Amino acid sequence: MVEPITHTPSHHDAGQTTYERYLRTEELLTLQKPEELLVQHDELQFQIVHQVFELWWKETAFELRTIHTLLHNDNVIEATRLLHRIVRIQYLMLDNLRMLETMTPWDFHAFRTVLADGAGTDSPGFQLLLKLSPPLWDEFRAVLARVQLTLVEVYTQTQRYPLLLACAEAFTDYDEVFQMFRSQHLKLAQRMIGPGSIGTGGTPLELLERTLKDLFYPELWEVRNTLTHMTQP
Ligand code: HEM
Repeated sequence: MVEPITHTPSHHDAGQTTYERYLRTEELLTLQKPEELLVQHDELQFQIVHQVFELWWKETAFELRTIHTLLHNDNVIEATRLLHRIVRIQYLMLDNLRMLETMTPWDFHAFRTVLADGAGTDSPGFQLLLKLSPPLWDEFRAVLARVQLTLVEVYTQTQRYPLLLACAEAFTDYDEVFQMFRSQHLKLAQRMIGPGSIGTGGTPLELLERTLKDLFYPELWEVRNTLTHMTQP
């Protein structure tokens, strides 16, 4: 027999529980447009998906700053653990992005004018990641310099330097998944407004396509070329 849903009653008045106060749910849930002001049904999802991005980017930026300090202090193990965390966050966000694929282009156009000249390029979270991510590489390079190792040595003597290799690979994961966001976002934008269109912020999608080649850690990709060349006769 199918059991009815168990309802666990709250012992506090609505809005007054420790849970609600700690998570500030009352404020959080008023940060979206009220239903009666939505121009179109899918606008709520659009706003929530973007807000979730900003929250996770905030957490990512927080961890990036910590990783910077950890590497500065040669704490490679802890830096690697947090790099794995930010990689997971970015993967989580790829699914968040896909939520918008449940919207049709025509539905998007029904509220697109509300966005006016608002554009993802102005996202404070994204800008912060663009600013904080590249300098981490200088810190990692400095760690290598202190132990007098080259990147090629780390990648060829894998048994000897497992921690440094794990850290370099975690950096690679992060660079890779960031690129995946860029390419998945471009695909989403293309399917919503068409590959030949211009964004609300004035950027043609063709221009956005060029960012697909931007890398935070080009050396990590170059070292792979080196390894391949080393093994070729
Ligand atoms: C209907 C869905 C979406 C469309 C059609 C779209 C379209 C665009 C376009 C056309 C641009 C270029 C700037 C401009 O508007 O002129 C852009 C940039 C951007 N969008 Fe979106 N976007 C969508 C969803 C999202 C979501 C959910 C996020 C997550 C917060 C996001 C984040 C960004 C970022 C960070 C940029 C700047 C990229 C860069 O400078 O490399 N977009 N988007």
